[in-house]
Amino acid sequence: MHTGTTLTQFIIEDQRHIAGASGDFTALLNDIVTAIKTISNAVNKGALIGVMGALDTENIQGETQKKLDVITNEIMIQSNEWAGHLAGMASEEMDDVYSIPKQYPLGKYLLVFDPLDGSSNVDINISVGTIFSILRAPVSGQAASMEDFLQPGTKQICAGYALYGSSTMLVLTTGNGVNGFTLDRDIGEFVLTHPGMKIPADTREFAINSSNQRFWEAPVQRYVSECLAGSTGPRGRDFNMRWVASMVAEVHRILTRGGIFMYPRDTKDPAKPGRLRLMYEACPMSFIVEQAGGISSTGYERILEITPENLHQRVPVILGSKNEVEVVLSYHNT
Ligand code: F6P
Ligand code: MN
Repeated sequence: MHTGTTLTQFIIEDQRHIAGASGDFTALLNDIVTAIKTISNAVNKGALIGVMGALDTENIQGETQKKLDVITNEIMIQSNEWAGHLAGMASEEMDDVYSIPKQYPLGKYLLVFDPLDGSSNVDINISVGTIFSILRAPVSGQAASMEDFLQPGTKQICAGYALYGSSTMLVLTTGNGVNGFTLDRDIGEFVLTHPGMKIPADTREFAINSSNQRFWEAPVQRYVSECLAGSTGPRGRDFNMRWVASMVAEVHRILTRGGIFMYPRDTKDPAKPGRLRLMYEACPMSFIVEQAGGISSTGYERILEITPENLHQRVPVILGSKNEVEVVLSYHNT
């Protein structure tokens, strides 16, 4: 007999508070959860089932694809295309919108995902994750076009991530706070273990890839140098630093014990205004961070208010503990 609330129970109970809810959303979430359990299994078995290593293909971003990038993308599609809840899908690993095959009914939601975030870490057994976002299709039951997906993050009705770490967790928001669930492999269910997650407003821990330092803009240069100056500098206290290079792991740490994460605008490649993808990474994480009491910005504007111009758009990201992000934003405003 297990104790605690399963994710299935949690979302059904949550749905009862929404007048007129049909159960479609709950069913969609269940299919996403099935995909996540399958991905967790594949990532966990790793070399035992021959899924490690790179392919000789590139995604639309020009990044070499890992075998697991392609496998996990396929798992997300197969788990979610058949049930009739979706009008289309978009993935970091696919150039164009994925149209639901003709043999399946069309639904009222759009699913957007990064099937394996941080996949450069997968071969070295460091945490990776899946990030997803659910939007409403402008017209229910009609195949979605690319333009239908270009909605600002404020329109998300759900965002979540799975973290394949020392345990597998699913962290979720539907706009009513953030809840974390841990996969109990014995019963095959996610169980509520982290209700009402809140990001502490203050922190002494920052995360940034400082190999890019010479390309950063002045406000970020100033902020990081003041952190590094520690108790002898203007901040008057010492800071700690982390860089996992898996955004999911980074955001999860911040949700658990506070912190600030930055992949700021830089001049490294003028064609890319940032590293992270607006629709697959920045928007869902920003929704979660804001729902947990944190802030998420490009340095210049709230990420959730950006209307995407294309599916694979990149943005600068500065997110985390409220008071610390406000310090960085104040440097952008001066
Ligand atoms: O997909 C983007 C990503 O892998 C993030 O998860 C991570 O934060 C970042 O890229 C790591 O970038 P870098 O390799 O520059 O450290
Ligand atoms: Mn990613």
